[in-house]
Amino acid sequence: MAEKVKWGVIGCGGIAARRTIPEFKSMSSEGELVSVMDIDDKRAKEVAERFNVPHYCITEQELLKQNIDAVYIATPQNVHCRQAVLAAQAGKHILCEKPIAISLEEVDRMESACKEASVKFMLGFCMRYNVYNKKARELVQSGALGQIVMGRAELTCWYPPIPGAWRQDVAISHGGALIDMGNHCLDILEWIMDAKIIEVTGFQDLMTHKYPTNIEDASTIVLRFSNGAHGIVDNYFNLPDAAAQNTLELHGTKGSIIGQGTIGQDPTGKMFSIIQPQETGYDANQVRDIEVDRQEYKMEGIGLYGQMIDIFSKCIIKDKEPPVTLQEGRHSVKVVNAIYKAVKEKRVIKVED
Ligand SMILES: NC(=O)c1ccc[n+]([C@@H]2O[C@H](COP(=O)([O-])OP(=O)(O)OC[C@H]3O[C@@H](n4cnc5c(N)ncnc54)[C@H](O)[C@@H]3O)[C@@H](O)[C@H]2O)c1
Repeated sequence: MAEKVKWGVIGCGGIAARRTIPEFKSMSSEGELVSVMDIDDKRAKEVAERFNVPHYCITEQELLKQNIDAVYIATPQNVHCRQAVLAAQAGKHILCEKPIAISLEEVDRMESACKEASVKFMLGFCMRYNVYNKKARELVQSGALGQIVMGRAELTCWYPPIPGAWRQDVAISHGGALIDMGNHCLDILEWIMDAKIIEVTGFQDLMTHKYPTNIEDASTIVLRFSNGAHGIVDNYFNLPDAAAQNTLELHGTKGSIIGQGTIGQDPTGKMFSIIQPQETGYDANQVRDIEVDRQEYKMEGIGLYGQMIDIFSKCIIKDKEPPVTLQEGRHSVKVVNAIYKAVKEKRVIKVED
């Protein structure tokens, strides 16, 4: 394997041009961007020029003919499967944006193609690379919070009707705030707790916006995890960005961790913990001097998307299993499908693994 992994990008829109390609160019020591492809000719050309990428094109076939080892797929989710299969058949390793695909059948096809071609696959659950979320995981895994009782992850934005927006067309997006933003939240809670979601229920509504198709702009979901903990994942397309808290909460028998803004595209945020390692006995006064054991964490954020490129590049160079696997993608499709079913049928649904 050459020293640097040669990359191609499929889909040069929002996330690729805003985060991944700039961070790729500024951060990645292990990867080299060789070509970008988009069905929108102007966009592919503009992105190639802006980021000094030597080649651009408008078909997967031309991209996959280039001298590249890996592709980053950042297109709408209804084409992830087709493009991943094409890339695997051309012998390219695949880093695919979330949600991995829109059905389990698609995940099956992606898995078979990757196995057959012996190429690696990694899913873009990039919130795992936020320094505060990593710290939260370390604390939870060390047992600092005792028995985990509850985890909450929230991600919101203001997303009004936009003509032609694929997220607002259910035939492409297959859902609203949950499949778009909740996907990250469900994953980050499972990853921090190292536990799987086993039961789901909740409410979803198209509460505020007049989208052309029926996708939820409000999604409030209740979960049970395999470690016995409860969970809440809440996602809204109808809260102002200026008011977004994007909260991470982890509560256990010895204390809590509270993050603010640690779930999102920015690698920063704020986080504190309140941990009482000693059992204090029952206090009927319920005195709550929360300042006593409060600890603030101050850490330098590192671009989530650049890290993702470097981590996957290293896995290719060193022939290692990527940290977010296709099986985790399959599980996330099961969880999301179970949630939509539970909401529709107004009941609690078990996630079968
Ligand atoms: N990990 C994250 O934080 C994060 C953030 C945003 C989006 N995403 C995911 O990334 C993907 C893209 O989202 P976005 O917000 O960048 O969308 P976008 O609409 O801004 O960009 C998508 C781009 O793909 C192009 N495109 C559409 N169909 C194509 C095809 N068949 N072949 C090649 N190009 C095609 C479009 O022309 C557009 O340039 C989605 O799956 C989304 O869920 C992930």
